[in-house]
Amino acid sequence: MKDNKHYNKTIALAITGASGFVYALRLLEELVRLDCRVYCAISEGAKAVARLEEGFLIPDLPGEQKQTLVNHLSLSLSSDDQLTCYATNDWNSPMASGSAPIDAMVVAPCSTGTLASIAIGLSDSLIKRAAVVCLKERRPLLLMPRETPLSAIQLEHMHKLSLMGVSILPASPGFYHKPQSIDQLIDFIVARILSQLGLDQSLLSPWGTSD
Ligand SMILES: Cc1cc2nc3c(=O)[nH]c(=O)nc-3n(C[C@H](O)[C@H](O)[C@H](O)COP(=O)(O)O)c2cc1C
Repeated sequence: MKDNKHYNKTIALAITGASGFVYALRLLEELVRLDCRVYCAISEGAKAVARLEEGFLIPDLPGEQKQTLVNHLSLSLSSDDQLTCYATNDWNSPMASGSAPIDAMVVAPCSTGTLASIAIGLSDSLIKRAAVVCLKERRPLLLMPRETPLSAIQLEHMHKLSLMGVSILPASPGFYHKPQSIDQLIDFIVARILSQLGLDQSLLSPWGTSD
């Protein structure tokens, strides 16, 4: 059935196995709240991290993944198609093709393994294929790596992608807004991602505007 609902933006959200699964959860929550349509793909690595960090068991079936995320975050979807999860080998996903009207893609968190794959153009999973499609279509692509320290290889990959217009947005929150909680540190990064996507975020006041 044809979908007539107009969304603010359509965002491809890929969650991979770097530490910081909680960033992805918070980002998803905000994207839904800001009336974005979200196509979501979760790597096996991300599932392992989610289990370890959050005690969060992500099912294998995409339909069950969606229901688990909706329940866990108490998401209130404006329409059933606002959130769709895809298996990482689902080549029928809109994320896999340049013909699908996707405004931007975010990989958060982004493992250095996935980052390296994107930098060399590997497409052996839906997540990598979707990122490679963004590059060829010159669509906004945001990667939120989490690793420290970084090797010359990893820095080289980031440099290469940055020169192609990719936003490299490391999970390194600032402290100048005097955060009082981990939630505020998470929101700092999520706010920066939302701003990069051109969304009107309200998690963090721009510097120089709060009292
Ligand atoms: C608990 C845990 C934490 C991890 N943290 C990171 C990390 O912060 N950065 C990273 O690049 N890889 C990290 N890894 C390793 C990746 O998950 C692993 O390289 C995986 O193959 C990445 O695959 P993916 O990109 O398809 O998810 C972590 C793994 C585990 C189990």
